[in-house]
Amino acid sequence: MPFYVQKGSIPQKRHITFYKPDGKSLYREELFSTSGFSGIYSNRYRLRMPTRVLKIEEQNLPKPEPWKNVPLKWHLFHTERYEAPKGDFFSARENLLWNDHIWISTAKPSKASDAFYKNAFAHELIFVHKGQGIFWSEFGQISFTPGDYLVIPKGTIYTLEFQDYTDTKLLIIESPDMFSIPKEYRNSYGQLREDAPYCERDLRPPEYFKPFDQKGEFKVKLKVGGKLSIQTWDHHPYDVIGWDGYEYPFAFHIDNFAAKVGQIHLPPPVHLVFSTPHFVVCNFVPRLFDFHPQAIPAPYFHTNVDSDEVLYYVDGEFMSRKGIEKGSITLHPMGLPHGPQPGKTEASVGQTKTHEYAVMIDTFAPLNIASIVETLSDSNYSKSWLEEVN
Ligand SMILES: [Fe+2]
Repeated sequence: MPFYVQKGSIPQKRHITFYKPDGKSLYREELFSTSGFSGIYSNRYRLRMPTRVLKIEEQNLPKPEPWKNVPLKWHLFHTERYEAPKGDFFSARENLLWNDHIWISTAKPSKASDAFYKNAFAHELIFVHKGQGIFWSEFGQISFTPGDYLVIPKGTIYTLEFQDYTDTKLLIIESPDMFSIPKEYRNSYGQLREDAPYCERDLRPPEYFKPFDQKGEFKVKLKVGGKLSIQTWDHHPYDVIGWDGYEYPFAFHIDNFAAKVGQIHLPPPVHLVFSTPHFVVCNFVPRLFDFHPQAIPAPYFHTNVDSDEVLYYVDGEFMSRKGIEKGSITLHPMGLPHGPQPGKTEASVGQTKTHEYAVMIDTFAPLNIASIVETLSDSNYSKSWLEEVN
């Protein structure tokens, strides 16, 4: 995060006595960092020690079955066309694509969670496609609506509560590396630059709520790699009286991304939202098209030999692609050129604006593909460029 936030009650300095109202017992200070003692961090002050765990049970998490001998070709598949797994915001996840640096899943949570969740291995970026509700965490709460990104540092204990569970949909990206606000969007002081597509006011840190002062049994599901450790705390984990620092979850709504428009077509980096060392996340939002009298708004063909390009289609009419519906995903693997489908370049000439929403992930190493993707795939997609232009 580029800026400092302080919520609730904290002592005047770090690492000094901070007494509860009885004047005798101490609040428990806890440093929260995802990169040792040298990266960004926050200090939290708890009612009780965060190490008070009654019971620990281990479970293996099911591994996704890879699509064996998958051909190197262009893929299109539809995540809304099957009976998605039921479950809460964690157990309903269907892992579709992955490598050592990223796991991409979709989920249609169908019920509230009876446990708290902590991904101790990966930061999470959750794009809310459908559904609204509240993100609850140790740091506070954030109301979310469709179009919100929830950026959750690894190790954050949280829950997602939907207003109703009849029509929900999440795109979830997990990464051992932090989702950073791109360096080029910030000045040398860390502040977001005047020409960045979003600014600090667009980023919504958690709102403070009074800590839960409850004893009992509270299950925290701790995900570490392929294992799930179910830890039963003897008190409510949301018992933080105050915190401050730079490391915390936040939300950013896709409509607050101020798209850039040029005289002629601008390349994908203008759509960049978050970056990591191993992949980037971009988004496409409604915008005016290029204004040169001969401009071709549709993208040109390009050979991205160094990245797998994943596009998750959210809403609107996508200008360069046919056969797309909400929740469709295209995967254009590295080494193959890609570009608009027959007729789409011509159709874009003279258009003045687009109303498309999509999230794009470019990974710098090839992705594994889950076997479920084969069953959801449009097998004719890789030949769709052979159609004649009408
Ligand atoms: Fe591309």
